[in-house]
Amino acid sequence: MRRPIAGSVILITGASSGIGAATARLLASYGATIVLCARRADELAHVRQSMHNPERHLVCTVDVTDAHAVAATVEHTIATLGRIDAVVCNAGVGVTGPVAELDYGNYLDAMAVNVGGFLHLVNAVNPYFSRQHGGQYVVISSVVGQHALPYTGGYAATKAALERLCEALRIESRGLGITVSVIRPGTVASGFFAHRIGPDREQRRTRSPGMAPEVVARSIVSALRYNRRIVYPRFRDLLLRVVADLFPMWSDAILARTIQWKQKTGDNETSSPAQDT
Ligand SMILES: NC(=O)c1ccc[n+]([C@@H]2O[C@H](COP(=O)([O-])OP(=O)(O)OC[C@H]3O[C@@H](n4cnc5c(N)ncnc54)[C@H](OP(=O)(O)O)[C@@H]3O)[C@@H](O)[C@H]2O)c1
Repeated sequence: MRRPIAGSVILITGASSGIGAATARLLASYGATIVLCARRADELAHVRQSMHNPERHLVCTVDVTDAHAVAATVEHTIATLGRIDAVVCNAGVGVTGPVAELDYGNYLDAMAVNVGGFLHLVNAVNPYFSRQHGGQYVVISSVVGQHALPYTGGYAATKAALERLCEALRIESRGLGITVSVIRPGTVASGFFAHRIGPDREQRRTRSPGMAPEVVARSIVSALRYNRRIVYPRFRDLLLRVVADLFPMWSDAILARTIQWKQKTGDNETSSPAQDT
């Protein structure tokens, strides 16, 4: 069944740039009212100005690692707009480095955003969803939530944890009208790589520019409209996942050889798929 986007109230975390900003613009163009959430107030204001009917949308400056601030944002939204129909849990950050050198503090910082931020939002929104007998979570994971790739181990662990939480939440919500969609993008051309936590020498970038954030935004709209369970915005990423599932040793060997070759040639830039996130 096709769910209407027009007239719905959708809260998006990480709406100040990249995927979140593109999704906000697209959903607004379909007639949704958007609650734009992130820490950078100036960027949020710019995104709102670029949207269809800017005055209709709400801007909330919030750090998703702060449970009280997230709860206050949800309360403010309900008080101002009357309801929330869906949340796009998109705020996220990468953490760099080979597992053997991964800084535990950096790893916990990424967990606090990618997993803690999601939990705080669910804790705050779920009572409203339960009361109105309906609501949808659209959660931005990553292809590495299923299969870690070299130098993405810490980040992949945060997305794997996020995916397991989504699986449990989906089952716990059965019969309550609350649904959970998971989006698994590969590399996206956004500020993500510049924002990653970790030592400079690990700030490897992909040679391929990645897909435009608008491609992921379209997948998010599709998940909202058709209540899709899992969406890969790019077919190639689904195919790589199937290959890695069917031939794991072959897949590991290719990735390891790619890295060895790069070490030999001293190439600090890693090409896809080794750095898809
Ligand atoms: N880019 C990729 O290759 C890729 C691939 C797969 C999945 N993803 C996932 O896609 C999502 C969006 O990433 P993106 O590519 O659009 O990168 P981005 O441009 O860096 O966007 C990240 C967003 O998260 C927000 N954010 C970060 N920490 C926050 C915090 N503590 N509190 C509130 N907001 C916070 C940022 O806003 P402020 O800095 O203003 O707070 C920003 O709006 C992330 O979950 C990421 O893991 C990205």
